[in-house]
Amino acid sequence: MKYTSADLNWNNPKSRSSVEMKDKSSRPELADRKADISGHDVIFLGFPIWWYVAPTIINTFLESYDFSGKKIILFATSGGSGFGRAVEGLKPSAPDAEIREGKLFRSSVSVNELKKWADSLGI
Ligand SMILES: Cc1cc2nc3c(=O)[nH]c(=O)nc-3n(C[C@H](O)[C@H](O)[C@H](O)COP(=O)(O)O)c2cc1C
Repeated sequence: MKYTSADLNWNNPKSRSSVEMKDKSSRPELADRKADISGHDVIFLGFPIWWYVAPTIINTFLESYDFSGKKIILFATSGGSGFGRAVEGLKPSAPDAEIREGKLFRSSVSVNELKKWADSLGI
């Protein structure tokens, strides 16, 4: 289900994001479970930093498919903080994948900027 702006209110301890992030074992449901994972060896996975980690719905995503033997390159947007413990929080959800910290972008990042970065990695 889509996150509304009320869901994202970090000042409200009862908002959806506050409730989910207080319980690191929460696994919010994905709206779409039909991503074509098997056809790719390298996967770029992007998310906003929430409370110094990835939202737990990203754990849901990693636990919903078989990523074994695949390379997962993370990218994120934030209000200023870095990746924090995001990588650490995601690794257990795809233990047989190689998860790599990629790059942090401004939230205004364009598809073109993302593409340039991805191309520059030469993967
Ligand atoms: C619940 C919640 C927690 C957040 N925690 C952090 C944080 O720990 N550090 C940070 O720099 N930004 C944090 N943010 C800001 C988001 O990373 C930012 O909103 C997101 O990257 C998208 O940017 P935008 O809101 O400018 O579109 C948080 C936002 C929300 C909704």
